[in-house]
Amino acid sequence: KKVLLAYSGGLDTSIIIPWLKEHYDGCEVIAMAADVGQEAELEGLNEKAIATGASKLYIEDLQKEFVEDYIFPTLKAGAVYENKYLLGTSFARPIIGKRLVEIAKKEGCDAIAHGCTGKGNDQVRFELAVKAFAPNMPIIAPWRTWEFKSRDDEIDYAIAHNIPLKITRETNYSKDKNLWHLSHEGLDLEDPANEPKYDEILEMGVSPEKAPDKATYVTIHFEKGIPTALDGVEMDGVSLIKKLNKLGGENGIGLADIVENRLVGMKSRGVYETPGGAILYHAHEVLETICLDKETQHYKQQIALKFADIVYNGQWFTPLREALSAFVDATQETVTGDVKLKLYKGNMINAGVTSPYTLYSEEFASFGEDDVYDQNDSAGFINLFGLPIKVKALLDEQRGQN
Ligand code: ARG
Ligand code: SIN
Repeated sequence: KKVLLAYSGGLDTSIIIPWLKEHYDGCEVIAMAADVGQEAELEGLNEKAIATGASKLYIEDLQKEFVEDYIFPTLKAGAVYENKYLLGTSFARPIIGKRLVEIAKKEGCDAIAHGCTGKGNDQVRFELAVKAFAPNMPIIAPWRTWEFKSRDDEIDYAIAHNIPLKITRETNYSKDKNLWHLSHEGLDLEDPANEPKYDEILEMGVSPEKAPDKATYVTIHFEKGIPTALDGVEMDGVSLIKKLNKLGGENGIGLADIVENRLVGMKSRGVYETPGGAILYHAHEVLETICLDKETQHYKQQIALKFADIVYNGQWFTPLREALSAFVDATQETVTGDVKLKLYKGNMINAGVTSPYTLYSEEFASFGEDDVYDQNDSAGFINLFGLPIKVKALLDEQRGQN
């Protein structure tokens, strides 16, 4: 028996290796770590996986694909979950799930295992992705069946099995890091009455209070809705996001502290750091205000809501998500231009937007005379537009209700 484990080197996936071998007849465990831009967390991972009992570790560099095929489509859609969450964990799970299947098939594995709890969203996202590419692949989710009831129990097991741990019981937040974001859940955050200890938990940047007193300007260039250059310097998506993470993080941008509705029913409290992502969402939205016509812009807002739910719920590999992406791409044909922002203590202040496709006309908007807009047309327009209001008022008057 061979099992492929989605491995991060964290507490959960570390203890799963000996646990699987104990419970599945000494099965071989192959580990796969996805490099989705979590940086430091990958150091020493191979030694650790082997020392913990894995027969080998795959480290898959998925950064480019993550940015181009998952992050940018979601950015273009303007999808935000419950008004705040930029979906950093949500869209990382489908890409990892897809690669797990590829490696499981190549290695002839009998099952895929993951370290998600039975109470969260991530289990759903991984498993929907596996089902999309390997409909009959058995999935092992130890958290749903094993004897451990808490992270403390896991730590005890890890210590008993000589598994090296980077964390202590006190810093035992549940975190998920990638190129796009870092999430924090658990411990004191579980009570929404508690203010997050920002100075202790932030890793991608600082709180607005700690940001410099001087503003930082940045100009982002978009081509068809995709960011392609910063301050006139062209760069690939991965480098661009890393650079914006730095600028945003230094200026206290992109913090979210929310109670969100999980797919599995309960509410949960999380703190998110998405410095570069917050800048990109803001800039992209500003550009769309001049590049999209009113009807498309408004309709796209409806699509964004649905798109966010789909991503959050792990339904990435579905006909609906693909169809919505096709719609979004059609709207982005003219979303090309430059957005200049001033980053200052957690704020993003607009400092100018231009586009060769702009629909904004200073001439038509200004109060002066022009040939396109005849102010006398407004009288008739208002009569018809206001007809239902007028008719109701007239009838109410006749009935003595006014
Ligand atoms: N609540 C967020 C989400 O559902 C973040 C989950 C973080 N996952 C983790 N394994 N720490 O997308
Ligand atoms: C987990 O429960 O495994 C992490 C949080 C989540 O999936 O929502």
